Amino acid sequence: MSFPEGFLWGGAVAANQVEGAWDVDGKGMSVEDVVAFKPKVDVKDYKANASVTLAGIREAMADTDLTYYAKRRGIDAYHRWREDLALFAEMGFKCLRLSIAWTRIFPTGEEEEPNEAGVAFYEEVLAEMVRLGIQPLVTLSHYEMPLALALKYNGWADRRLIDCFERFARVCFERFGAYAKLWLNFNEIDSLIRHPFTTAGIIEDLCGERGLRATCYQAAHHQFVAGARVTKALREMIPDAKMGLMLTKLTTYPRTCAPADVVATQQKNLENLFYADVQVFGEYPAMILRRLETEGISIDMEPGDLEVIRENTVDFVSFSYYMSMTESVDPNAERTPGNTVLGVKNPYLPTSDWGWQVDPVGLRVSLIELYDRYRKPLIVVENGLGAHDTVEEDGSIHDPYRIDYFRAHIADIGKAIDAGVEVMGYTSWGPIDLVSANTNQMSKRYGFIYVDEDDLGNGTLERSRKDSFHWYQKCIKSNGEDLD
Ligand code: BG6
Repeated sequence: MSFPEGFLWGGAVAANQVEGAWDVDGKGMSVEDVVAFKPKVDVKDYKANASVTLAGIREAMADTDLTYYAKRRGIDAYHRWREDLALFAEMGFKCLRLSIAWTRIFPTGEEEEPNEAGVAFYEEVLAEMVRLGIQPLVTLSHYEMPLALALKYNGWADRRLIDCFERFARVCFERFGAYAKLWLNFNEIDSLIRHPFTTAGIIEDLCGERGLRATCYQAAHHQFVAGARVTKALREMIPDAKMGLMLTKLTTYPRTCAPADVVATQQKNLENLFYADVQVFGEYPAMILRRLETEGISIDMEPGDLEVIRENTVDFVSFSYYMSMTESVDPNAERTPGNTVLGVKNPYLPTSDWGWQVDPVGLRVSLIELYDRYRKPLIVVENGLGAHDTVEEDGSIHDPYRIDYFRAHIADIGKAIDAGVEVMGYTSWGPIDLVSANTNQMSKRYGFIYVDEDDLGNGTLERSRKDSFHWYQKCIKSNGEDLD
């Protein structure tokens, strides 16, 4: 297998899922700080987990208890990041994808000046990463925008968010540009349509006559313009840096070869790719515009919007990949959950503890499809298995299921590279156990490193190495040659 020299092996985390310290050193409240762990909700029902109401937000704001607000606690990486980075370095990480909590830099999103304590925190973290030889890959927005912007403007539904985001990004480039050369604008920008509140601060109660769906497309337009504007700023401010897009790669196969299933599948995949198409090709796909028109959805654009999108396309394409789905027009087809989707079950694939279908070949399919379509360097910035782990009496954690998952997926990346796909790196999701984005659980564990914390925040927060820690260390050391 041929992983190129300098391949960026590593892991990926998001501030809101690891840092905790939600109200420390001037941090403002973010959208994720008001989303609670709901023990009574079916954890596989992402809609029930992602839904919020204005009344629910107000209630959450008045509640300062941490028990059910797991993202307020995270894994306390805000205070334990040195230990975590040392463990990543021990595994041999070449790269760590992390995000900057917007609310640490601009607590409400509208301050004139950044919060220096927040800036100083990331300066220290990034400097230490560089010292350890771990290259930062920084996501500007990973489900953690200021709650104040959601309440005041209905988030990205409002055009004024573009300026707020650009101000935030410019501070990040100015203060962190010496350490970070690889940047991502919006995590899983396509998820805006599936969980509008955490991706874009959109509250359905505030959508008025326009309605939620049309508001989401308007917000996506604002994010495209903002993404292009910050790419322009990055090129001016850090000429040797690169900007990438980030897509949830929801690879969908037709459930059968019946033409109706094939057409339904094609539509699904086109909708998913739309968000990357705009950022790579610099224009809206005609078929998406036609579909929106048919649905009666019009997007307000200002003069210059399409030019800025056209002139500031991304340098590379990154994506998350956890599972594949199938699609069928048969209303009785059996369904299974995936990452914020409910798809049709594929009889050829096993599923994880959370019902997600495990499909390493689908990762190869995704890489080949994306490279063929975009001809841009790719990086897999999220991939991993959320599973229950058991701590043995002697403290060891044996997770052969996780090793199997990684072994198979990494082998398929190798096959894609051998087929001619340009892959820059691989950052596995949650190299250390963290709070689940969808369900706010700690018990859905992704890490090579175990964190002693349960769903309600009990535990010592102590970190320990699982078997997969040693496996990944060996994989990295051999540059992907040794997957045994
Ligand atoms: C991705 C997100 O969609 O999936 C991550 O970018 C998230 O933030 C990951 O954690 C896995 O989802 P979950 O719900 O299992 O945490």
